[in-house]
Amino acid sequence: MRPPFVSFFLFIVVAALDVILSSKPPPAAAASAAAANYVINLRNYHQIELARVVGPESIAFDCHGQGPYVGVSDGTILKWQGPRLGWIEFAFTSPNRPRKLCDGSTNATNEPICGRPLGLKFNPKTCDLYIADAYFGLLKTGPNGGKPEVLASSLGGVPFMFTNALDVDEETGIVYFTDTSTVFQRRVWMQSILAGDKTGRLLKYDPCTKEVTVLLHDLAFANGVALSKDKSFILVAESAPFTIHRLWLRGPKAPAFEIFAQLERPPDNIKSNNKGEFWVALNSGRGVKEVGNIETSDKWLNVNDPVAAKFDEQGTVVQVLDGEGGPALESVSEVEEQNGNLWVGSVVKPYVGVVKFRV
Ligand SMILES: *[C@@H]1O[C@H](CO)[C@@H](O)[C@H](O)[C@H]1NC(C)=O
Repeated sequence: MRPPFVSFFLFIVVAALDVILSSKPPPAAAASAAAANYVINLRNYHQIELARVVGPESIAFDCHGQGPYVGVSDGTILKWQGPRLGWIEFAFTSPNRPRKLCDGSTNATNEPICGRPLGLKFNPKTCDLYIADAYFGLLKTGPNGGKPEVLASSLGGVPFMFTNALDVDEETGIVYFTDTSTVFQRRVWMQSILAGDKTGRLLKYDPCTKEVTVLLHDLAFANGVALSKDKSFILVAESAPFTIHRLWLRGPKAPAFEIFAQLERPPDNIKSNNKGEFWVALNSGRGVKEVGNIETSDKWLNVNDPVAAKFDEQGTVVQVLDGEGGPALESVSEVEEQNGNLWVGSVVKPYVGVVKFRV
């Protein structure tokens, strides 16, 4: 990899040459500056540690920009109130959650009782928090949290098996979400990969009819979902074959379904930023020992350890987060861009990573 300071040095040289040759802004210098911005490294990285629990898989900020909120291993959703006040419990997902067993649990055996909130997203219009819990389905809680309402937990009488990720259209209240498998629960997720399971689905919940419909089926480990800024399409990650699909929801291309990006590492959650770009979390495979038998690429996208990539709406990678081969970002499940920071979630680590960068 070309170290960033070399790029920066070249940029200075090109910029200096240009001052000598012409007074107009040089396109070459602009290209160098863009290249220098392409890789986000860990120079400005810190961690917010969790107390007792692990696995802040998904990250959300509320309609006032407060947070992050994270769903963790003991079935609670925590809210970060800053370094002085720390984390507070905001909500939980299990309808009958025995605190003695669940509080502080990091044991996946307890998940079917305690819950495991995976996908989180606030509706910026209503301030409601939508939750995809791996065991209790699609849930919604108000701005004050607490026990959520169940929006949907089954389809055609068959319970969801592994509700995973979601996005919500704030205009219509329609929720798009994934059920990763109809056969395997989250706590045995590796078995789904090893068995070549292809029962994952992209689903849609309509708040007017309260009905769930299937948009895509036969996906091999259906995972992250994200709507485009104009809601004309939705992306869905299929983790096992390292693919991101695009389903057109509106406009001349609807309802076509196409490959948006073919990757060299398994994609996890997808989150859009306020420009309508998409951050895709990429797992290195290092952080989860069971992944030893999945071949993932190291150097790819011109960085040594791509742990997340930002795509524009055309499917071009415009920025990459380099995990630099270390343990800090070896297991990344989500990247959320907010306030000039990347907030990095993980399904196993006991912290939220924070990377400062300039937009
Ligand atoms: C997890 O909980 C189960 C059931 O209570 C128990 O049998 C198992 O030993 C626990 N595992 C760990 C690693 O504590």
